[in-house]
Amino acid sequence: MTQTIDLTKYDLNFQAPTQEPERQYYFMAKAQNYVAKLTEELKRKPTCCVTTFGCQMNSRDSEKLVGILELVGYEIVDTEQADFVIFNTCTVRDNANQRVYGRLGALKSYKKKHPNMKVALCGCMMQEPTVVKKLKDSYRFVDLIFGTHNIYKFAELLVDTFEKKGMIIDIWEDTDKIVEDLPVERKYPFKSGINIMFGCNNFCSYCIVPYVRGRERSRKPEDIIREIKNLVKEGVVEVMLLGQNVNSYGKNLESPMTFAELLREVEKIEGLQRIRFMTSHPKDLSDELIKVMKESKKICRHLHLPLQSGSTRVLTEMNRRYTKEQYLALADKIRKEIPDISLTTDIIVGFPGETTEDVEETIDVIKKVRYDNAFTFIYSKRTGTPAASMDNQIPEEVVKVNFDKVLKTVQNMAKEQVGRFQGQVMDALVEEVNEQEAGLVTGRLSNNTIVHFPGDVNLVGKIVNVKLEECHGFYYIGKIVE
Ligand code: SAH
Ligand code: SF4
Ligand code: F3S
Repeated sequence: MTQTIDLTKYDLNFQAPTQEPERQYYFMAKAQNYVAKLTEELKRKPTCCVTTFGCQMNSRDSEKLVGILELVGYEIVDTEQADFVIFNTCTVRDNANQRVYGRLGALKSYKKKHPNMKVALCGCMMQEPTVVKKLKDSYRFVDLIFGTHNIYKFAELLVDTFEKKGMIIDIWEDTDKIVEDLPVERKYPFKSGINIMFGCNNFCSYCIVPYVRGRERSRKPEDIIREIKNLVKEGVVEVMLLGQNVNSYGKNLESPMTFAELLREVEKIEGLQRIRFMTSHPKDLSDELIKVMKESKKICRHLHLPLQSGSTRVLTEMNRRYTKEQYLALADKIRKEIPDISLTTDIIVGFPGETTEDVEETIDVIKKVRYDNAFTFIYSKRTGTPAASMDNQIPEEVVKVNFDKVLKTVQNMAKEQVGRFQGQVMDALVEEVNEQEAGLVTGRLSNNTIVHFPGDVNLVGKIVNVKLEECHGFYYIGKIVE
């Protein structure tokens, strides 16, 4: 946890404070009493499972939920057969939604046999009114529903689940609020995501994120630096700065600051060894950022630069605000300045009106840029976005054929590209013991490529030099060298 919070100083006979985060600390103290009572009844700690769908933002949010749950006395478990189950949902593509409904079905039968169990739903899906309506109509067993903007008041809502009957629903349309200093329980002791901003103002025409995450808000640099310094004290060596478009960081601050300037400050933090960030929009990646990356000893040699499509016509329809040529020129400039960098990307296949020629343009960019990896997605129609009402939606069979073509190109290029470092020695942060093969550990290179090599649990969290001996597509097999 990033700080110890003394909950004993809150007198629960008084009304809750109105200021944050004190108000939430008060409710944490109150929740602690309820959980203590429950512990007595059950003769064990009640268990809680937080299941996360979606991106790193959601993972970080879940760490905040777990931080509060642990503090108030829950035992965190991996199984959804628990006293309290929370789904932190994603709605970026329809299959994310379908997975949530599928899992909810399983929870329903479990709750029938365990009526005292609690079920909560939060995250991006909950910001869609149609979803909440469906839950109200057909999933009455859900106890608590809250959204992305009020996640900071989870402790208060948790208390409500002990004090109120029936389904509790609290969804806000938007917020300009950022509440600092809430507890967090990190998944990894040696690396951590850090939100530097929330929301998105870009409104790419296919994307639901701006509607469910609200307008862009940046955290103050001093809060970010303080958080990272504390993390480093606790043993974190690698941070990932998170934002939907980090390139617009700082624009709405009282004293504006660029992302590159923030990176310079983060670089100065003693003891911090690696800095990553995600995501950087190609439309406004500055020369200053390239310069800072080039000069940095800590910023990793990896840039995720979402392409979405290689066709300028489709890019315009997507409201991405760059052309194929501008993207290629940017990729070239980055490679020229930082030759050992790995570029990765996101691609959408099947956007309304996409023709075979458009797909060929995408394939052309993949071949020219030579990505180390690319996440390829089938376009998913999201209600409320401009693309959803475009009348030239592409039939599934056509999308499938194009998707396979794009995927094949990505895989072939990645294999060649990842393999270019074979025989070299590079530093790897050991993340875990390899589950498939005994005696191996798994590390991540600065350029984000995975390497497996002989080692044991004592290496986890350490940065070691590894010789990259054999490239197997997206990963290497190697060995430690002194
Ligand atoms: N802010 C990030 C993206 C967040 S969403 C950025 O702009 O890069 C992650 C990825 O999901 C996107 O890059 C896009 O490729 C994909 N995506 C978003 N909406 C989608 C949709 N409606 N259908 C298919 N893929 C989508
Ligand atoms: Fe979605 Fe575009 Fe915002 Fe990324 S930048 S979250 S793709 S709207
Ligand atoms: Fe999904 Fe929300 Fe992230 S929609 S991708 S969890 S911002």
